[in-house]
Formats: sequence, C-alpha cells, structure tokens
Amino acid sequence: MTISFKDKVAIVTGAGGGLGREYALELARRGAKVVVNDLGGARDGTGHSDMALQVVEEIERAGGEAISNGASVTEFEQMQKMVADAKQKWGGVHILINNAGVLRDKTFAKMEPKDFEFVVDVHLNGSAFASKAVWELMREQAYGRILMTASSTGLFGNFGQANYGAAKLGLAGLTKTLQLEGAKYGIKVNTLAPVAGTRMTEDLFPEQAYKLFAPENVVPAALYLVSEDAPTNAIVGAGGGGYHSAWVMMNDAVWLHDGERTVEGFAAHWDEISAQTNLRSPNSGSEQSAAIMTAMQKVTGGSGPTSARG
Ligand code: NAI
Repeated sequence: MTISFKDKVAIVTGAGGGLGREYALELARRGAKVVVNDLGGARDGTGHSDMALQVVEEIERAGGEAISNGASVTEFEQMQKMVADAKQKWGGVHILINNAGVLRDKTFAKMEPKDFEFVVDVHLNGSAFASKAVWELMREQAYGRILMTASSTGLFGNFGQANYGAAKLGLAGLTKTLQLEGAKYGIKVNTLAPVAGTRMTEDLFPEQAYKLFAPENVVPAALYLVSEDAPTNAIVGAGGGGYHSAWVMMNDAVWLHDGERTVEGFAAHWDEISAQTNLRSPNSGSEQSAAIMTAMQKVTGGSGPTSARG
C-alpha cells in the first residue's frame, strides 16, 4: 500500500532545515504541493535568511511543486496571509505541520523572563496562530490534518529547558482540545515528539547519537500522522529507527468519606491515590469528573469501606 499526498496542499513551518525540510521533501515526493515556511533565523531565533527558498528549489529540481514563505509563526496576520496565498494558488490547505522551533536553554534560576516568553511564543503561540489561520478553511473543506511538534522535554522534563518544556507540553494540550473541536469537520490533530540530530541538537548529542538519530527516520511517523488514514489525538515518539506512543493517564479515583476529607485523610490515602494501577487515557476532560462520579457511586452504592477505588 502506497500512502500518497497527491492533490493535497501542505504547510510545513520551520521547513528551511532539519526535520521540517525532511517532511517538506517527502511530502512533495509523494505528490503534495508544499508551502515551505521558515524565518531562516539562528537556533535562538535571531536573524533571517532564505533557507525556505533553498528547500523550494530542491523540491522543484526533483519535479515537485512548492512555494516559500519567510514569515514568522509568531505573527498571526502573516500566518493568515500564508494560508490565503496557498489557497489562492492551489485552492485549499489540507495539512499543517507545526514544526518551527527555537532554543534558549538555561536553568530556571538563570533564565530571563524574556527568554521564557520568547520560546513559549514561537512554539506554543506560533503553532496556535498557524493552526488558527488554517482552521476555518479546514472546517469549510471538512478535511484537515494538523501535527504539533512536542518533545520528550515537554512530556517528561529535561534539565535546563523549563521554557521549552512548558511550551511543548502546551502543544500536547492544544492537540487534545483541537482534536475534539475538529472531529466533526474531518480534522485530525496529533502530537509528535521527535528525536533527531539537527542543528538544534548538534551540541547536545554525542557524535554517534547525532548520526544514529538522522532526521529522515522521523519522517515515516510525521507523514503517517498527517495522512488520509491518520489517527487523531495520538502522541507519538520517533527517533533513530524507534517509534512509540505516549499518553496522559489517570488511575481510578479514590473516594474519601466526609470525615476523611482532611489533609491528614488525604495523606493517609496517598499510596492508593498515587498508585500506577488501572491506568487509562481519557479522551476528554469530562472523563475525569465521570471517573470521580463512578468512584462515588461504587462507595455510596455498597455497604461501605471508609474509602474505595472506583
Ligand atoms: P531546526 O533548528 O533545524 O529547525 C527549526 C526551524 O524552525 C529552523 O529552520 C528555524 O529557522 C525555524 N524557525 C524558528 N523560529 C521560527 C519562526 N518564528 N517562524 C518560522 N520558522 C521559524 O531544529 P529541528 O531539530 O529540525 O526542530 C524541528 C522541531 O522539532 C522543533 O519544533 C523542535 O523543537 C522539535 N524537536 C526536535 C528535537 C530534536 O531532537 N531535533 C527533539 C524534540 C523536538
């Protein structure tokens, strides 16, 4: 079975190099018309260059179709214009890969508020702005595929990356609500946590790891997650040749009776409350309150221990 992107229009942000460039090249090889967005700045987000244009030329040399866009994802009007240009040229936008990113690593103790703000702005607001710019069009088309780029730092934490981690987990959160709001319009939204040797990681990875985690290995996961038969609300990790899923999980609620709802009562049940048993991944926030209600019904409906797991 070949997965084709013929007749699809895709926007890849931050596609002038690294992972984004690989996504853009492969989408074009598989028939998509691609908007290659990149501000062309340095790793910390300063400066500009024509990186996006070079990728467009590469796509065209290989017989594909692409246009470049040098806008910053942090500027909503520019994102709106990017979408309008793609629509005017090719009639729609079916795929958005939010990939643009910057790094300003420091321990939280040394991190300036402006570096926190900037990194959150590019990753989280930038992805929200590009998604918002394409959202109405995807709803009208009753078709859309959006991929957010998170990170192991966002999902699990990493020393020295408080700003980046906050933004990246925010993106997994953005996915979770957009996939609910987009479902009836045929819009699927997923989150990818890549691991790749790129300029972003060149001084963070040892040389061998840098080579092992060649960015093209992330492409199969990214492209599947924006394909016709993509799942929705998935969090996928990809790097080297390894691929996995991740979830936001909860255990069963423990119902505490009136007299136990004190700080001491909570402390007495902490082992039970924090046990990693019966884990499941709710599909929406309302399932949290439903699980609490289930725990209550089990206790109030039975002869009654003083607390119970639902
Ligand atoms: P990269 O630095 O090669 O790519 C990021 C691209 O985004 C650059 O070309 C840059 O010019 C562009 N960009 C930055 N700010 C922009 C803005 N405001 N508007 C438009 N474009 C902008 O790095 P890499 O590794 O390819 O990163 C791609 C994505 O993957 C990023 O979101 C990154 O955080 C994420 N990621 C990468 C990991 C890795 O191991 N390389 C690990 C986890 C996440």
